[in-house]
Amino acid sequence: MTSATSPHSGVDGRHFRHVVGHLASGVTIVTTAEDEITYGMTASSVTSLSADPATMLACLNNSGPTAAAVARSGRYAVNVLGEANGTLATRFATPHDDKFAGVPLLDSVLGVPLLADALAHLECEVVERIMAGTHSIFVGRVVAATAYSGRPLTYFRGGFGRFALAQEDAAYRTVRDLVLKRAFAPGSVITVVDLADGIEIEPSSAFYALTRLEADGLVTREADRGYVVTAFDARTSDTTFDARLVIELGVIEQVVGELGAREKNKFRQRFDAMAEFLRDDRFVDFDAYLDANYRFHETLVDFAGSRVLTTMFEGLAIKQVMTRSFGATQESSQRFLQEQQRIVEAFEAGDKAGARDAARAYNTLAKDRAREVLAMHGGVL
Ligand SMILES: Cc1cc2nc3c(=O)[nH]c(=O)nc-3n(C[C@H](O)[C@H](O)[C@H](O)COP(=O)(O)O)c2cc1C
Repeated sequence: MTSATSPHSGVDGRHFRHVVGHLASGVTIVTTAEDEITYGMTASSVTSLSADPATMLACLNNSGPTAAAVARSGRYAVNVLGEANGTLATRFATPHDDKFAGVPLLDSVLGVPLLADALAHLECEVVERIMAGTHSIFVGRVVAATAYSGRPLTYFRGGFGRFALAQEDAAYRTVRDLVLKRAFAPGSVITVVDLADGIEIEPSSAFYALTRLEADGLVTREADRGYVVTAFDARTSDTTFDARLVIELGVIEQVVGELGAREKNKFRQRFDAMAEFLRDDRFVDFDAYLDANYRFHETLVDFAGSRVLTTMFEGLAIKQVMTRSFGATQESSQRFLQEQQRIVEAFEAGDKAGARDAARAYNTLAKDRAREVLAMHGGVL
Protein backbone atom coordinates (compact mmCIF):
# COMPACT_ATOMS: atom_id res chain seq x y z
CA MET A 1 0.00 0.00 0.00
CA THR A 2 1.49 3.40 -0.86
CA SER A 3 1.23 6.28 1.56
CA ALA A 4 -1.19 7.99 -0.84
CA THR A 5 -3.76 5.21 -0.47
CA SER A 6 -3.05 4.33 3.15
CA PRO A 7 -5.67 5.40 5.67
CA HIS A 8 -2.82 5.81 8.17
CA SER A 9 -0.56 8.80 8.17
CA GLY A 10 2.56 6.73 8.98
CA VAL A 11 5.11 7.16 11.71
CA ASP A 12 7.39 10.15 12.11
CA GLY A 13 11.00 9.36 11.02
CA ARG A 14 12.61 10.40 14.31
CA HIS A 15 10.18 8.31 16.32
CA PHE A 16 10.69 5.38 13.94
CA ARG A 17 14.48 5.50 14.43
CA HIS A 18 14.02 5.53 18.19
CA VAL A 19 11.62 2.56 18.19
CA VAL A 20 13.46 0.47 15.60
CA GLY A 21 16.68 1.08 17.55
CA HIS A 22 15.29 -1.48 20.02
CA LEU A 23 15.83 -4.18 17.41
CA ALA A 24 19.35 -5.32 18.35
CA SER A 25 21.56 -6.38 15.46
CA GLY A 26 25.04 -7.44 14.53
CA VAL A 27 27.28 -5.02 12.65
CA THR A 28 29.02 -5.60 9.32
CA ILE A 29 31.14 -3.68 6.86
CA VAL A 30 30.02 -4.25 3.29
CA THR A 31 32.95 -3.84 0.90
CA THR A 32 33.55 -3.96 -2.81
CA ALA A 33 36.25 -3.02 -5.31
CA GLU A 34 36.23 -1.65 -8.79
CA ASP A 35 39.23 -0.70 -10.94
CA GLU A 36 41.61 -1.12 -7.98
CA ILE A 37 39.54 1.29 -5.89
CA THR A 38 38.13 -0.10 -2.63
CA TYR A 39 34.78 0.88 -1.12
CA GLY A 40 33.21 0.00 2.21
CA MET A 41 30.46 1.05 4.57
CA THR A 42 29.15 -0.01 7.94
CA ALA A 43 25.80 -1.77 7.57
CA SER A 44 23.51 -3.52 10.00
CA SER A 45 20.70 -4.07 7.50
CA VAL A 46 22.36 -7.24 6.29
CA THR A 47 20.83 -10.66 6.70
CA SER A 48 20.90 -14.21 5.38
CA LEU A 49 18.04 -15.02 3.04
CA SER A 50 18.33 -18.73 2.24
CA ALA A 51 20.78 -21.60 2.68
CA ASP A 52 20.10 -23.34 -0.61
CA PRO A 53 21.33 -21.55 -2.56
CA ALA A 54 23.34 -19.66 0.07
CA THR A 55 22.06 -16.11 -0.31
CA MET A 56 22.51 -12.83 1.56
CA LEU A 57 20.69 -9.50 1.49
CA ALA A 58 22.40 -6.15 1.99
CA CYS A 59 20.30 -2.97 2.14
CA LEU A 60 22.45 0.00 1.16
CA ASN A 61 21.61 3.68 0.83
CA ASN A 62 21.87 4.73 -2.82
CA SER A 63 23.28 8.13 -1.91
CA GLY A 64 26.71 6.78 -0.86
CA PRO A 65 29.57 5.66 -3.12
CA THR A 66 29.54 2.06 -1.83
CA ALA A 67 26.04 1.21 -3.07
CA ALA A 68 26.86 2.59 -6.52
CA ALA A 69 30.14 0.65 -6.61
CA VAL A 70 28.39 -2.61 -5.61
CA ALA A 71 25.86 -2.03 -8.39
CA ARG A 72 28.64 -1.51 -10.96
CA SER A 73 31.02 -4.27 -9.77
CA GLY A 74 28.26 -6.85 -9.19
CA ARG A 75 29.96 -8.22 -6.08
CA TYR A 76 30.40 -7.49 -2.42
CA ALA A 77 31.81 -8.91 0.77
CA VAL A 78 30.04 -8.93 4.12
CA ASN A 79 32.64 -8.51 6.86
CA VAL A 80 30.94 -9.48 10.14
CA LEU A 81 32.51 -7.42 12.92
CA GLY A 82 33.81 -8.76 16.22
CA GLU A 83 33.40 -7.06 19.60
CA ALA A 84 36.80 -5.34 19.31
CA ASN A 85 35.95 -3.78 15.92
CA GLY A 86 33.95 -0.78 17.19
CA THR A 87 36.54 1.69 15.85
CA LEU A 88 36.36 0.13 12.38
CA ALA A 89 32.56 0.33 12.49
CA THR A 90 32.72 4.04 13.28
CA ARG A 91 35.35 4.71 10.65
CA PHE A 92 33.36 2.98 7.90
CA ALA A 93 30.17 4.78 8.93
CA THR A 94 31.75 8.16 8.17
CA PRO A 95 32.20 9.31 4.56
CA HIS A 96 35.93 9.43 3.87
CA ASP A 97 38.18 9.04 0.83
CA ASP A 98 40.54 6.56 2.41
CA LYS A 99 38.61 4.43 4.87
CA PHE A 100 40.98 1.50 4.23
CA ALA A 101 44.25 3.29 5.20
CA GLY A 102 46.19 0.99 7.52
CA VAL A 103 43.40 -1.62 7.65
CA PRO A 104 44.87 -5.13 7.12
CA LEU A 105 43.16 -7.06 4.31
CA LEU A 106 43.07 -10.72 3.27
CA ASP A 107 43.04 -12.20 -0.23
CA SER A 108 39.59 -13.00 -1.55
CA VAL A 109 38.00 -15.17 -4.23
CA LEU A 110 36.05 -12.34 -5.86
CA GLY A 111 38.68 -9.60 -5.50
CA VAL A 112 36.64 -7.79 -2.84
CA PRO A 113 38.36 -6.41 0.31
CA LEU A 114 38.18 -8.78 3.29
CA LEU A 115 39.01 -7.07 6.59
CA ALA A 116 41.56 -9.28 8.36
CA ASP A 117 40.20 -8.47 11.84
CA ALA A 118 36.58 -9.37 11.08
CA LEU A 119 34.77 -12.25 12.78
CA ALA A 120 33.48 -13.74 9.50
CA HIS A 121 33.54 -13.06 5.75
CA LEU A 122 30.94 -13.82 3.12
CA GLU A 123 31.76 -13.07 -0.52
CA CYS A 124 28.72 -12.53 -2.71
CA GLU A 125 27.87 -12.07 -6.37
CA VAL A 126 24.93 -9.79 -6.95
CA VAL A 127 22.07 -11.72 -8.55
CA GLU A 128 19.41 -9.06 -8.16
CA ARG A 129 19.13 -5.43 -7.16
CA ILE A 130 15.77 -4.35 -5.79
CA MET A 131 15.23 -0.61 -5.65
CA ALA A 132 13.29 0.38 -2.51
CA GLY A 133 12.97 4.12 -2.00
CA THR A 134 16.27 5.58 -0.81
CA HIS A 135 17.91 2.13 -0.58
CA SER A 136 18.84 -0.83 -2.80
CA ILE A 137 18.45 -4.39 -1.61
CA PHE A 138 21.36 -6.33 -3.09
CA VAL A 139 20.56 -10.03 -3.27
CA GLY A 140 23.92 -11.82 -3.19
CA ARG A 141 24.74 -15.45 -4.03
CA VAL A 142 27.43 -16.51 -1.54
CA VAL A 143 30.51 -17.94 -3.28
CA ALA A 144 32.86 -18.14 -0.29
CA ALA A 145 32.34 -17.94 3.45
CA THR A 146 34.71 -18.19 6.45
CA ALA A 147 34.14 -17.72 10.17
CA TYR A 148 36.70 -17.27 12.96
CA SER A 149 36.38 -17.61 16.71
CA GLY A 150 35.31 -14.60 18.77
CA ARG A 151 32.24 -12.68 19.72
CA PRO A 152 30.22 -10.25 17.65
CA LEU A 153 29.92 -6.50 17.89
CA THR A 154 26.29 -5.57 18.50
CA TYR A 155 24.23 -2.46 17.88
CA PHE A 156 21.32 -1.43 20.07
CA ARG A 157 19.58 1.93 20.50
CA GLY A 158 22.31 3.86 18.71
CA GLY A 159 25.25 2.33 20.60
CA PHE A 160 27.71 -0.50 20.11
CA GLY A 161 27.84 -3.29 22.64
CA ARG A 162 28.90 -6.84 23.21
CA PHE A 163 26.93 -10.01 23.09
CA ALA A 164 26.43 -11.81 26.39
CA LEU A 165 25.80 -15.53 26.37
CA ALA A 166 22.64 -16.51 28.24
CA GLN A 167 24.71 -18.57 30.69
CA GLU A 168 26.88 -15.58 31.59
CA ASP A 169 23.89 -13.34 31.84
CA ALA A 170 22.23 -15.80 34.23
CA ALA A 171 25.40 -15.82 36.36
CA TYR A 172 25.37 -12.02 36.44
CA ARG A 173 21.74 -11.95 37.60
CA THR A 174 22.36 -14.54 40.31
CA VAL A 175 25.37 -12.69 41.71
CA ARG A 176 23.60 -9.34 41.45
CA ASP A 177 20.65 -10.72 43.43
CA LEU A 178 23.02 -12.01 46.10
CA VAL A 179 24.69 -8.61 46.43
CA LEU A 180 21.39 -6.74 46.41
CA LYS A 181 19.92 -9.10 49.00
CA ARG A 182 23.01 -8.52 51.15
CA ALA A 183 24.44 -12.05 51.04
CA PHE A 184 27.84 -10.30 51.25
CA ALA A 185 28.60 -7.70 53.90
CA PRO A 186 29.49 -4.19 52.69
CA GLY A 187 33.27 -3.95 52.30
CA SER A 188 33.74 -7.71 52.02
CA VAL A 189 35.92 -9.13 49.27
CA ILE A 190 34.57 -11.47 46.59
CA THR A 191 37.12 -13.48 44.60
CA VAL A 192 36.41 -15.05 41.24
CA VAL A 193 37.41 -18.52 42.47
CA ASP A 194 35.35 -18.43 45.68
CA LEU A 195 32.33 -17.07 43.87
CA ALA A 196 32.57 -19.71 41.11
CA ASP A 197 32.89 -22.51 43.71
CA GLY A 198 30.24 -21.08 46.01
CA ILE A 199 27.43 -20.94 43.47
CA GLU A 200 28.76 -23.56 41.04
CA ILE A 201 29.38 -21.48 37.95
CA GLU A 202 32.34 -21.35 35.55
CA PRO A 203 35.15 -19.00 36.68
CA SER A 204 34.78 -17.13 33.35
CA SER A 205 31.08 -16.51 34.18
CA ALA A 206 32.01 -15.37 37.71
CA PHE A 207 34.54 -12.95 36.23
CA TYR A 208 31.96 -11.69 33.73
CA ALA A 209 29.39 -11.19 36.52
CA LEU A 210 31.82 -9.22 38.68
CA THR A 211 32.88 -7.02 35.77
CA ARG A 212 29.25 -6.11 35.14
CA LEU A 213 28.57 -5.53 38.83
CA GLU A 214 31.52 -3.14 38.81
CA ALA A 215 29.88 -1.21 35.98
CA ASP A 216 26.65 -1.17 38.06
CA GLY A 217 28.57 0.31 40.99
CA LEU A 218 27.71 -2.64 43.23
CA VAL A 219 31.34 -3.75 43.63
CA THR A 220 34.62 -1.86 43.26
CA ARG A 221 37.81 -3.40 41.97
CA GLU A 222 40.77 -2.86 44.26
CA ALA A 223 44.19 -3.73 42.84
CA ASP A 224 45.46 -5.54 45.93
CA ARG A 225 42.23 -7.09 47.28
CA GLY A 226 39.98 -7.95 44.33
CA TYR A 227 36.28 -7.10 44.12
CA VAL A 228 34.91 -5.34 47.20
CA VAL A 229 31.16 -4.98 47.87
CA THR A 230 30.29 -1.29 47.76
CA ALA A 231 28.63 0.09 50.87
CA PHE A 232 25.30 1.77 50.25
CA ASP A 233 24.52 4.86 52.31
CA ALA A 234 22.10 7.80 52.50
CA ARG A 235 24.27 9.96 50.25
CA THR A 236 24.07 7.44 47.41
CA SER A 237 20.30 7.18 47.68
CA ASP A 238 19.79 10.98 48.04
CA THR A 239 21.94 11.69 44.98
CA THR A 240 20.15 9.12 42.85
CA PHE A 241 16.61 10.18 43.82
CA ASP A 242 17.48 13.87 43.42
CA ALA A 243 18.92 13.25 39.94
CA ARG A 244 15.72 11.46 38.94
CA LEU A 245 13.66 14.37 40.25
CA VAL A 246 15.67 16.86 38.18
CA ILE A 247 15.06 14.80 35.03
CA GLU A 248 11.37 14.45 35.80
CA LEU A 249 10.92 18.18 36.53
CA GLY A 250 12.49 18.93 33.15
CA VAL A 251 10.10 16.53 31.43
CA ILE A 252 7.08 17.93 33.31
CA GLU A 253 8.05 21.42 32.16
CA GLN A 254 8.17 20.24 28.58
CA VAL A 255 5.22 17.86 28.23
CA VAL A 256 2.46 18.56 30.75
CA GLY A 257 -0.43 20.16 28.84
CA GLU A 258 0.87 18.78 25.52
CA LEU A 259 0.07 15.06 25.88
CA GLY A 260 -2.70 13.29 23.97
CA ALA A 261 -5.34 10.92 25.37
CA ARG A 262 -3.34 7.80 24.45
CA GLU A 263 -0.28 8.95 26.34
CA LYS A 264 -2.27 9.97 29.41
CA ASN A 265 -4.04 6.64 29.31
CA LYS A 266 -0.74 4.79 29.11
CA PHE A 267 0.55 6.69 32.14
CA ARG A 268 -2.60 5.84 34.08
CA GLN A 269 -2.22 2.15 33.12
CA ARG A 270 1.39 2.16 34.32
CA PHE A 271 0.20 3.59 37.64
CA ASP A 272 -2.59 1.00 38.01
CA ALA A 273 -0.12 -1.83 37.25
CA MET A 274 2.21 -0.56 39.97
CA ALA A 275 -0.59 -0.07 42.54
CA GLU A 276 -1.37 -3.81 42.32
CA PHE A 277 1.85 -4.57 44.14
CA LEU A 278 1.63 -2.18 47.09
CA ARG A 279 -1.33 -2.88 49.35
CA ASP A 280 -2.04 -2.01 52.99
CA ASP A 281 1.41 -0.43 53.43
CA ARG A 282 3.18 -3.62 52.29
CA PHE A 283 4.78 -4.86 49.09
CA VAL A 284 2.74 -7.75 47.71
CA ASP A 285 5.73 -8.74 45.54
CA PHE A 286 8.72 -6.41 45.80
CA ASP A 287 10.40 -7.41 42.50
CA ALA A 288 7.15 -6.99 40.59
CA TYR A 289 6.55 -3.63 42.31
CA LEU A 290 10.08 -2.55 41.45
CA ASP A 291 9.64 -3.37 37.75
CA ALA A 292 6.25 -1.64 37.61
CA ASN A 293 7.58 1.41 39.49
CA TYR A 294 10.51 1.65 37.08
CA ARG A 295 8.18 1.45 34.08
CA PHE A 296 5.98 4.17 35.56
CA HIS A 297 8.91 6.60 35.86
CA GLU A 298 10.45 5.47 32.56
CA THR A 299 7.13 6.21 30.81
CA LEU A 300 7.09 9.71 32.32
CA VAL A 301 10.65 10.38 31.10
CA ASP A 302 9.94 8.84 27.67
CA PHE A 303 7.17 11.41 27.10
CA ALA A 304 9.93 13.94 26.37
CA GLY A 305 10.93 11.84 23.34
CA SER A 306 14.58 12.53 24.10
CA ARG A 307 17.06 9.65 23.89
CA VAL A 308 19.57 11.66 25.91
CA LEU A 309 17.17 12.01 28.84
CA THR A 310 16.02 8.39 28.66
CA THR A 311 19.65 7.22 28.65
CA MET A 312 20.43 9.46 31.63
CA PHE A 313 17.45 8.01 33.48
CA GLU A 314 18.61 4.45 32.73
CA GLY A 315 22.10 5.35 33.94
CA LEU A 316 20.81 6.28 37.40
CA ALA A 317 20.63 2.61 38.47
CA ILE A 318 17.46 3.50 40.33
CA LYS A 319 16.43 -0.16 40.65
CA GLN A 320 19.61 -1.01 42.51
CA VAL A 321 19.11 1.91 44.88
CA MET A 322 15.49 0.95 45.54
CA THR A 323 16.36 -2.71 46.06
CA ARG A 324 19.09 -1.81 48.50
CA SER A 325 16.81 0.50 50.47
CA PHE A 326 13.07 -0.23 50.19
CA GLY A 327 13.78 -3.85 49.29
CA ALA A 328 15.26 -4.55 52.73
CA THR A 329 11.76 -4.86 54.22
CA GLN A 330 8.28 -5.81 52.98
CA GLU A 331 6.88 -2.80 54.83
CA SER A 332 6.14 0.30 52.81
CA SER A 333 3.59 3.09 52.69
CA GLN A 334 0.47 3.86 50.64
CA ARG A 335 1.64 7.48 50.60
CA PHE A 336 4.00 6.63 47.74
CA LEU A 337 1.01 5.69 45.63
CA GLN A 338 -0.95 8.75 46.76
CA GLU A 339 1.79 11.11 45.53
CA GLN A 340 2.24 9.18 42.30
CA GLN A 341 -1.51 9.28 41.73
CA ARG A 342 -1.30 13.07 42.15
CA ILE A 343 1.38 13.12 39.44
CA VAL A 344 -0.89 11.14 37.08
CA GLU A 345 -3.88 13.38 37.82
CA ALA A 346 -1.85 16.52 37.23
CA PHE A 347 -0.67 15.10 33.87
CA GLU A 348 -4.29 14.35 32.99
CA ALA A 349 -5.38 17.86 33.95
CA GLY A 350 -2.44 19.56 32.22
CA ASP A 351 -1.49 21.05 35.58
CA LYS A 352 2.27 21.72 35.56
CA ALA A 353 2.48 23.23 39.03
CA GLY A 354 0.53 20.29 40.49
CA ALA A 355 2.77 17.77 38.72
CA ARG A 356 5.92 19.53 39.96
CA ASP A 357 4.60 19.64 43.49
CA ALA A 358 3.61 15.95 43.53
CA ALA A 359 6.95 14.88 41.97
CA ARG A 360 8.82 16.82 44.67
CA ALA A 361 6.66 15.38 47.46
CA TYR A 362 7.18 11.86 46.12
CA ASN A 363 10.93 12.38 45.98
CA THR A 364 11.05 13.59 49.59
CA LEU A 365 9.06 10.53 50.67
CA ALA A 366 11.46 8.22 48.81
CA LYS A 367 14.58 9.80 50.30
CA ASP A 368 13.11 9.79 53.82
CA ARG A 369 12.07 6.18 53.54
CA ALA A 370 15.53 5.13 52.29
CA ARG A 371 17.07 6.91 55.30
CA GLU A 372 14.63 5.15 57.65
CA VAL A 373 15.51 1.74 56.24
CA LEU A 374 19.21 2.55 56.39
CA ALA A 375 18.85 3.65 60.02
CA MET A 376 17.28 0.27 60.82
CA HIS A 377 20.51 -1.29 59.51
CA GLY A 378 22.96 0.97 61.31
CA GLY A 379 23.24 3.58 58.52
CA VAL A 380 24.82 1.37 55.91
CA LEU A 381 23.68 -1.60 53.82
C1 LIG B 1 25.74 0.62 13.17
C2 LIG B 1 25.47 1.23 11.81
C3 LIG B 1 24.71 0.53 10.90
C4 LIG B 1 24.45 1.07 9.63
N1 LIG B 1 23.73 0.33 8.75
C5 LIG B 1 23.50 0.81 7.53
C6 LIG B 1 22.81 0.01 6.57
O1 LIG B 1 22.42 -1.12 6.84
N2 LIG B 1 22.61 0.54 5.34
C7 LIG B 1 23.03 1.80 5.02
O2 LIG B 1 22.80 2.23 3.88
N3 LIG B 1 23.71 2.57 5.89
C8 LIG B 1 23.97 2.10 7.13
N4 LIG B 1 24.69 2.85 8.02
C9 LIG B 1 25.18 4.19 7.61
C10 LIG B 1 26.42 4.11 6.73
O3 LIG B 1 27.44 3.34 7.33
C11 LIG B 1 26.98 5.51 6.45
O4 LIG B 1 25.99 6.26 5.81
C12 LIG B 1 28.26 5.52 5.62
O5 LIG B 1 28.76 6.83 5.60
C13 LIG B 1 28.06 5.10 4.20
O6 LIG B 1 29.34 5.05 3.60
P1 LIG B 1 29.63 5.71 2.17
O7 LIG B 1 28.98 7.08 2.26
O8 LIG B 1 31.11 5.79 2.08
O9 LIG B 1 29.02 4.79 1.15
C14 LIG B 1 24.96 2.35 9.28
C15 LIG B 1 25.73 3.05 10.20
C16 LIG B 1 25.98 2.50 11.46
C17 LIG B 1 26.81 3.27 12.45
